[in-house]
Amino acid sequence: MRIAVLNGPNLNLLGVREPEIYGRETLADIERAVRSRAEQSKVEIEWRQTNDEGEFVELVQGLRGRADGALVNAAAFTHTSLAIRDAFLAVRVPFVEVHLSNIFAREPERRRSLLADLAVGIVAGFGPLSYLLALDALLDHLNRRGS
Ligand code: DQA
Repeated sequence: MRIAVLNGPNLNLLGVREPEIYGRETLADIERAVRSRAEQSKVEIEWRQTNDEGEFVELVQGLRGRADGALVNAAAFTHTSLAIRDAFLAVRVPFVEVHLSNIFAREPERRRSLLADLAVGIVAGFGPLSYLLALDALLDHLNRRGS
């Protein structure tokens, strides 16, 4: 099984960026933890990060046929991007929306997600652990669907 992990803008700055909200772990730390968890389940991970909305759209478009499912932290694009929403509507690849912070407990403009109703589910608020919980949940969903 192959899972893509798509990370949006400014997540490359994790570790130094607003550590009181996002913690001190870097995106590379989170990638290592996700890869190690995935290895235990014999799952292949494709890990991507981009600050560019158009590139994010292309990554979503490319999911079809390349990944069985995805973990998606679209960062600020979550709240703003109809283009990314449309790309998910087009490809219909199952994904779990992931956030380090609890977006529903933050500023009003972060409480709306343009992706949430398309997702299998959302994991938010657990810091880096959100990614691992989301991976477990996605694998459980795909395995149950396949059996
Ligand atoms: C985030 C939450 C978003 O509102 C924010 O723009 C981010 C990170 C999170 O993981 O908590 O960049 O997606």
